[in-house]
Amino acid sequence: MSGINYSERIPNNVDLASNKALQRALERWQPAYLNWWGEMGPDKSQTLDVYLRTAVSVDPKGWAHYDYVKMPDYRWGIFLAPAEKDRKVNFGTHRGDPAWQEVPGEYRSTLRRIIVTQGDTEPASVEQQRHLGQTCPSLYDLRNLFQVNVEEGRHLWAMVYLLHAYFGRDGREEGEALLERRSGDSDNPRILTAFNEKTPDWLSFFMFTFLTDRDGKYQLAALAESAFDPLSRTCRFMLTEEAHHLFVGETGIGRIIQRTCEVMNEHKTDDPAKLRGMGVIDLPTLQKYLNFHYSVTSDLYGSEVSSNAASFFTEGLKGRFDETKIGDDHQLESTEYEVPDVAADKIVSKHVPALTALNERLRDDWIADVQKGIDRWNRIPEKAGIPFRFKLPHKGFHRRIGLFTDLHIDPEGKVISEADWTHHHAGWLPTEEDRAFVHSLMGRVTEPGKFANWIAPPHQGINKQPIDFEYVRFS
Ligand SMILES: [Fe+2]
Ligand SMILES: [Fe+2]
Repeated sequence: MSGINYSERIPNNVDLASNKALQRALERWQPAYLNWWGEMGPDKSQTLDVYLRTAVSVDPKGWAHYDYVKMPDYRWGIFLAPAEKDRKVNFGTHRGDPAWQEVPGEYRSTLRRIIVTQGDTEPASVEQQRHLGQTCPSLYDLRNLFQVNVEEGRHLWAMVYLLHAYFGRDGREEGEALLERRSGDSDNPRILTAFNEKTPDWLSFFMFTFLTDRDGKYQLAALAESAFDPLSRTCRFMLTEEAHHLFVGETGIGRIIQRTCEVMNEHKTDDPAKLRGMGVIDLPTLQKYLNFHYSVTSDLYGSEVSSNAASFFTEGLKGRFDETKIGDDHQLESTEYEVPDVAADKIVSKHVPALTALNERLRDDWIADVQKGIDRWNRIPEKAGIPFRFKLPHKGFHRRIGLFTDLHIDPEGKVISEADWTHHHAGWLPTEEDRAFVHSLMGRVTEPGKFANWIAPPHQGINKQPIDFEYVRFS
């Protein structure tokens, strides 16, 4: 059938119709994407009507439209934040030059790698979460899961658009490979370790969206500073979607804490075994899940000292969080930054050239943001008159990348022996038994307004709808 307006088939604000070659390339990629969604997207969900928001414009007020959608019909599209007039390169050796509208030849392979690595995380998380719909604690939560999933799918579109539009044949091949790798697959895994872990239950899902989607926020914010303007504009719009994912994680855990505190007060007990017997998740188990997801996600920032991170910055490819709001020379040639170090079995700190410490700096920005969320969680037991407080483990705890890789560090930041680690780690990280218990709570609640016993209802519904709204229709 001729005359199909492709700009309607793929919603976009990049005037796709004016570039026939690009349009055709994306047209060929689209069915492969839909196949991937059918195979690896949310399990048994294809016919459900889900109350989803769809990006319909980049106008801050106008982009969110809510309606029932069958997920395979979701209008995945290409949305870039509006171009900033006369935008300049804001850091590195090219500082002050006009921002790049094309990829400079010398940075082509590095930029492609950065975009592929970011792009790979998007479908990976959908794959990790694909079975969760079968054990949803409510329709409200089921809808939020699906919202996160379709938006991660859209983030893949965002990255594939860049690959197709700016990286020619190599970019198209990368676009195909993004649909071929599989989270957790031993032959063809996703690129980053945290995205090959399982997300086997809703506690893990909420921790993932609280911590790992927040890594996404910081990575995207650093790329939003890029001198490569299309990448910057793409990431800026992605960040507006990401905010909802963080909300899902933070409020999800908050509601679990709330419910546990209610049962603790009702039955006047803090005994984990008794609380488990009453079907709620005891606070020390939540702390262990926090320790696990925090440490695994922390690895995503890479080594504390990194010459790659230095080049990305110097070349103008990846900036710092809030680069343009930082009051320094944006070159970092003579400044230093404090990173951890290990000397005589003690964790100390040392100063290194700030340029080489940019991974650590971004990790520190993320940690400060995570800590704010933890502080908000801690108000829940505080209000309930319960002395328990959540605490982030030391940044060296349970790390697999960087300085701490071969060391055992306890949550307080003490270097300990392998024997001590073996003896104590079951108190710090979820054990098989903990996971089996959490798993045992995962039933499926699909009656509007009803919630699983282990989680409190939210304070309000989505898009001002009531909490007992039929967020997902099964028919
Ligand atoms: Fe994403
Ligand atoms: Fe996300």
